[in-house]
Amino acid sequence: MQHERLLKVLVIGDIGVGKTSIITRYVHQVFSQHYRATIGVDFALKVLNWDHKTVVRLQLWDIAGQERYGNMTRVYYKEAVGALVVFDMTRLSTFQAVLKWKGDLDSKVALGNGRTVPAVLLANKCDQRDHGLCPKLPKLESFSREYGFIGWYETSAKDDTNIDAAITCLVKSIMSLE
Ligand code: GTP
Ligand code: MG
Repeated sequence: MQHERLLKVLVIGDIGVGKTSIITRYVHQVFSQHYRATIGVDFALKVLNWDHKTVVRLQLWDIAGQERYGNMTRVYYKEAVGALVVFDMTRLSTFQAVLKWKGDLDSKVALGNGRTVPAVLLANKCDQRDHGLCPKLPKLESFSREYGFIGWYETSAKDDTNIDAAITCLVKSIMSLE
């Protein structure tokens, strides 16, 4: 018999970095250029046939970038078991905010054993590499290790680059923790 696991995963990062676009790409396989700010939080669900005995119900919590300045994140983060922390490769300020989001996360939610929840770092909009910050960014491999991310990916919601890989990496890590 198959059993089900419900996983609550947060998608966080500054305004306009592409959180909603990443989720929409992953769940509905579409992309829109049109920007519509998320207000508060949105939800999406993707059901994964994880292995022959496990179905994963992946609940993605799409947190508005504006919430960084609000006080709601503690409520939203409750009982999360993992996170995608997103920045926009073309805007340095969004990279500088990554550690604020990661700090916010780790100060407000932890696993049962007290450890931090697994988080993957996403450098989104890599289709815009020509306008990218690559020379200005630290090496993401060492940066992500130093600050406790389990991995990092250059992603594009527009071109569908590494979205699946990044989320699969996170879910694998979560599933290996039990
Ligand atoms: P908030 O809800 O305000 O926190 O923003 P968000 O992080 O959800 O950003 P959203 O997904 O709404 O995307 C913002 C803008 O960036 C939109 O115009 C998207 O079309 C665009 N965008 C998102 N991902 C990509 C990408 O991978 N490449 C390019 N070129 N544009 C992207
Ligand atoms: Mg959004």
